Amino acid sequence: MPHQKTVLVTGGAGFVGSHCVAELIARQYNVVVFDNLQQGHRAAVPAEAELVEGDLASHAALARLFSTFRFDAILHFASNSLVGESMRNPHLYLYDNVVNALNLIQAATENGVSKFVLSSTANLFGMPDRMPIDENTEIDPGSPYGESKFMIERILHWADKVHGMRSACLRYFNAAGAHPDGHLGEDHDPETHLIPLVLDVAAGKRSHIEIFGEDYPTHDGTCIRDYIHVSDLADAHVRVLAMLDHKSCRYNLGNGRGYTVREVIETAARVTGRDIAVKTGPRRPGDPPVLIASSDRVRKDLGWDPRFPDLETIICHAWDWRCRNPDGYASHMTRELVGAS
Ligand code: UFG
Repeated sequence: MPHQKTVLVTGGAGFVGSHCVAELIARQYNVVVFDNLQQGHRAAVPAEAELVEGDLASHAALARLFSTFRFDAILHFASNSLVGESMRNPHLYLYDNVVNALNLIQAATENGVSKFVLSSTANLFGMPDRMPIDENTEIDPGSPYGESKFMIERILHWADKVHGMRSACLRYFNAAGAHPDGHLGEDHDPETHLIPLVLDVAAGKRSHIEIFGEDYPTHDGTCIRDYIHVSDLADAHVRVLAMLDHKSCRYNLGNGRGYTVREVIETAARVTGRDIAVKTGPRRPGDPPVLIASSDRVRKDLGWDPRFPDLETIICHAWDWRCRNPDGYASHMTRELVGAS
């Protein structure tokens, strides 16, 4: 029996957002996606969800949205989310990300929305020297991007104190993979993330992958990251909605296991059966040597248990999506045009 709860998903046409939309629909929620489609893809939004094209910077668009629908909860993904870009253009992050979130949070509290889930980031922790990183690790953002997410976490803290709006701040480690059924995946422009870039090389779209530094204090000299399957992230978002009636919370989301850049490349070569050419370059400024999550708290509180914890499965799903959609979501349009002719 559908429970008829309506959830607003900002940025629901993006990578993590679209997987959360799919999970919400599978669990019988009504979903409204609000996305300006600058980075998101219309084709990533299923027919069961209502897509409203708009920008969080526009008070008028938000007023229209909240007068058209009544939301039980909000999942907020829409933001600029590139660490490197934030170091070159902090304003896009410290102003746009924060002001857009403020506009949304104000509309939410004025309209009596009682639950809010924020897509936050491990970049909040900067370069910690102790692993794994749990929720008590000192906050020391590694970039204007991480700082902007921390500022939004603080705004949500006060929205709870003042208005009683409960919030969950979910700090992802390295989101990766694709929907196991192959209909959703990762398609950024420009692409900067390791796994999709490595798969571009496997697919013959790039000549090589550049490793950003081989002189880190790790077993093979390359950076270690904790890759978490995007569907496991989606599962955590939907689980947290159910317990948000009681109190606000913050969770770190990762598998608790790290892989080096070289191990990612080797695994991708095995999964795809292709050679992956590698060149070594200098370190990328701001990259911490190691980031590994402790997700004990979310496992205990929500019973969250990642279904796809191993790197091979994560890369296998990403490769499957890539093979079905060689041009990403643009492949959908090509298929529609061919189908219509
Ligand atoms: N890397 C390369 N070559 C590339 C791209 C990446 O060697 O061409 C390396 C990076 O140096 C890093 C690792 O691969 O060591 C992963 O890099 P990504 O760019 O895929 O991801 P990041 O760890 O830099 O950042 C990700 C998200 C951020 C988030 C952060 C939190 O993209 O939004 O995790 O840990 F803030």
